[in-house]
Amino acid sequence: MKPAPIFIAAFFCLICSIADRQAVAHGPEDQKKSSAPHGLRGERKLPDRYPYVVKDILKYCRPQKGFWVDLGAGRGQVAIPLIEATGNPVTMLDPNAESMSKGLELAREKGLENRLTAVVGVAEKMPLPDNSVDLLVSRGSIFFWDDPVKGLREVYRVLRPGGKAYIGGGAGSGYPSQATEKLIQSRKERARGEESAKWKRFIELRRPELMRKWADEAGLPNYTVMGKGAISAEDKRVGQGVWVLFEKK
Ligand SMILES: C[S@@+](CC[C@H](N)C(=O)[O-])C[C@H]1O[C@@H](n2cnc3c(N)ncnc32)[C@H](O)[C@@H]1O
Repeated sequence: MKPAPIFIAAFFCLICSIADRQAVAHGPEDQKKSSAPHGLRGERKLPDRYPYVVKDILKYCRPQKGFWVDLGAGRGQVAIPLIEATGNPVTMLDPNAESMSKGLELAREKGLENRLTAVVGVAEKMPLPDNSVDLLVSRGSIFFWDDPVKGLREVYRVLRPGGKAYIGGGAGSGYPSQATEKLIQSRKERARGEESAKWKRFIELRRPELMRKWADEAGLPNYTVMGKGAISAEDKRVGQGVWVLFEKK
């Protein structure tokens, strides 16, 4: 492992990004946010999904300690419980500096400020060296990337041999069944309601067939797609959602 170049690169990118902050905050990402269907906020009343996702990450990736990245980290919803569960530092990478600032604040409140860092960037062009990342996780983000195929190729590039990636979205395999049912039911209803086009698109983007297509087009040499998508929890390995898991050889 060569920590010095990684952290220098990360620090440099964070500094560079401050100048671009306004452009990022008012750029395409904001447009993406506004195209997200309403109703996701209502889902926040359901039990917290992140601890269950973290359990699955640890179960399927069995990561070795080192350089861990949460791609499309938002406010660090996955990164922070991942640090809490393992003690390993995590770097958030996301185009939205403001979201990550909130994550950094929360980490500070929890006394985890020495464990969480942030880099502004996008999946399609990660400001990270080749073969540098031991674990890359990404929840709820690939569906917003401009080019998921390019993003997956980039993930493969930055993983070090033996490094693993777990990318997708969902509630996690241990998520309580009643809450899972409510989640699925409300999405099905919304796909028939006022914003049906947006919700249909939301569901469409989370089909396992599409995840396989992206993984094939990215040329991932070996991968496993788990989960049956946004409105099914039939695949007990991950419960509701869809994920791609791969390791760099
Ligand atoms: C729905 S949020 C998910 C946040 C968090 N990971 C979670 O699970 O709650 C989607 C995130 O993906 C980020 N994002 C959008 N386009 C991206 C891209 N091209 N590369 C990396 N992240 C991106 C957004 O800024 C946003 O923070």
